Amino acid sequence: MPGVRIVGIGHYSPDNCISNDYLASIVDTSDEWIVKRTGIKTRNLSQGEGSSELGAKAALNALKNSGCSPEEIDLIIVATTTPDSFTPSSACRIQGMLGCINAAAFDISAACSGFLYSLIIANNFLKQGERKKALLIGTEVLSRIVDWSDRNTCILFGDGAGAAVVEFSEEGNGIMETCFGSDGSLGDQSLRAGRFKVVNPICKVDDSVENNYISMDGKAIFKFAVSIIPKIVEELLEKSNLDISDIKYIVPHQANMRIIKDSARKLHVEMDKFFINLDKYGNTSAASIPIALSEMSDQGLLQRGDKIIVAGFGGGLTWGGALIEW
Ligand code: ACO
Repeated sequence: MPGVRIVGIGHYSPDNCISNDYLASIVDTSDEWIVKRTGIKTRNLSQGEGSSELGAKAALNALKNSGCSPEEIDLIIVATTTPDSFTPSSACRIQGMLGCINAAAFDISAACSGFLYSLIIANNFLKQGERKKALLIGTEVLSRIVDWSDRNTCILFGDGAGAAVVEFSEEGNGIMETCFGSDGSLGDQSLRAGRFKVVNPICKVDDSVENNYISMDGKAIFKFAVSIIPKIVEELLEKSNLDISDIKYIVPHQANMRIIKDSARKLHVEMDKFFINLDKYGNTSAASIPIALSEMSDQGLLQRGDKIIVAGFGGGLTWGGALIEW
């Protein structure tokens, strides 16, 4: 069956590794608490590079692995919660840095589900023949929007970028099934960042916004995550008429080890079916899934024909998944 395939994948992670012990020196926490409640041991933080720069570096690796030239790319979609600016978009910035002169480029905002949203959008453009080769990038500098005095959130996040080149191919299934969705009614109170206080002499409003940093109801997100991950997996299996035993790996959004363990229990699968690297990177939001896929590829875990499920959830609230034949 012809389909849309990932033909190159790459990632970039800043080399500034921050330990739990370091965080315990700036907020009231401990390595023991963080590892036990989240599974996170370290995270890498940008030292001044913006999300466009991280994204461009990941994209260069993906392009190299795909064998495609920048000129061959005719679509760039960047998923990010932390763009360097409202405009130009991160996608246009990266297009400029890489010289992808033949691409249309735009950003999407779907928090941690963003990369999967970009995959689903590109899948449709490529299947319709509207575009030939797309460069998809998830990139974040969450350290810019984290409140470094809030122990509830600052221990969770990391910076980084992952990228994939996708194209329509006559050989192999590629992206077999997808699903995605949102629930805006739960958004603001569960996870919020980047609201700006209105300072405007014309429009006088009673503005209660206090800051722009990430604020999160961890328990609400946790509850949402442990219900949506199994649902995504089950929906994709049902649509494709496959059994969980046909799936080599489930690649979940890397947020919390306990979320993954609970999902494994609900799906009645062993933990070794899940790829996990959150211990090393923390939660890198839109970058988490492409970084995971890139690491799996580097480690030789993905062979042609393997079937995997990627499943993500995030602020919005949003979720998305894809069943992919590698
Ligand atoms: N160190 C020590 N103690 C802490 C810390 C910390 N870093 N953070 C919270 N605590 C304390 C709390 O103050 C609380 O103390 P209290 O009982 O005296 O009030 C206690 O630990 C328990 O706090 P909870 O919030 O109940 O801890 P919980 O077990 O729920 O774990 C966590 C919190 C890790 C945030 C968890 O809820 C979680 O992972 N939720 C999902 C978060 C997530 O995935 N967010 C991002 C998804 S969307 C996106 O990726 C953009």
